[in-house]
Amino acid sequence: MKLRRLAVLSAAFATLAATTVAASAITVGFSQIGSESGWRAAETTVTRQEAEKRGIDLKFADAQQKQENQIKAIRSFIAQGIDAILVAPVVATGWDAVLEEAKDADIPVILLDRTVDSDKSLYLTAVTSDLVHEGKVAGEWLAKDVGTNPCNVVELQGTTGSSPAIDRKKGFEEGIAGHDNIKITRSQTGDFTRTKGKEVMESFLRAEDGGKNICAVYAHNDDMAVGAIQAIKEAGLKPGTDIKVVSIDAVPDIFLAMEAGEANATVELTPNMAGPAFDALKAYLDSGTEPPKWIQTESKLYTQSDDPKAVYEAKKDLGY
Ligand code: AHR
Repeated sequence: MKLRRLAVLSAAFATLAATTVAASAITVGFSQIGSESGWRAAETTVTRQEAEKRGIDLKFADAQQKQENQIKAIRSFIAQGIDAILVAPVVATGWDAVLEEAKDADIPVILLDRTVDSDKSLYLTAVTSDLVHEGKVAGEWLAKDVGTNPCNVVELQGTTGSSPAIDRKKGFEEGIAGHDNIKITRSQTGDFTRTKGKEVMESFLRAEDGGKNICAVYAHNDDMAVGAIQAIKEAGLKPGTDIKVVSIDAVPDIFLAMEAGEANATVELTPNMAGPAFDALKAYLDSGTEPPKWIQTESKLYTQSDDPKAVYEAKKDLGY
């Protein structure tokens, strides 16, 4: 970023720090994917809260799951001469041109929760979990849980082409590698939504003798797992017992399902990507400090033995 622009923005942050008036020092555009899951809703809520805490004027654009809408929103932010851009990229490819445009306009871009295949010089940093690790943790949990028993797994993938769908699949396969008793027999996208998770699980159940040949479902997020749980119940089976359920996100509803014995394990993804993003942005604008290209958030495994009721109570009012 040019020094003059850095100095102006740094002065804006300083002004904000020196006043109690809720004046907006900087304006940040946020291109959000949409609201496909409880986790996504929480990320939006937390991003607004983190912006408000810092007196940042947040311009929010909901892309309704479409990359073309995200590209339009980013171009509009650039045209408005905004100070920085946050984007949660719906898919991993196709970002080079618009990221180049932001770079040419001297506007730093921060990726939230998903990655892209563009050159790293085109964005300031990416705040994400280790998406491969999440899948691996889920796979390792299942391998430990089933031991040497045979286990046919059906997989509900996230949005096709998105980095979590690609990486969580890869990670899970790594987690079960070497356990020849565990096999992924069916795998299809449920687009990270409850409705599609349920629909796809219904088709898996039909194709697998009403579910008799399914030992476990691995869902790339909890919302699809919740949809799958409903489908399993409607098929007359007990989720969590007849068919194990392992997923990712740690949204409140999965803890209710765990408490009822209907889900077995989830890997937590924090919805607070914006806090670390705004901190990195401030350091960059204040003093030119370049953040690392990847700011990694933590992933934690929860099972039925982690007091799911208490976790539900702790999370239920956090914007999910
Ligand atoms: O990119 C993060 C994923 O996107 C979350 O796991 C899922 O719920 C979401 O919609």
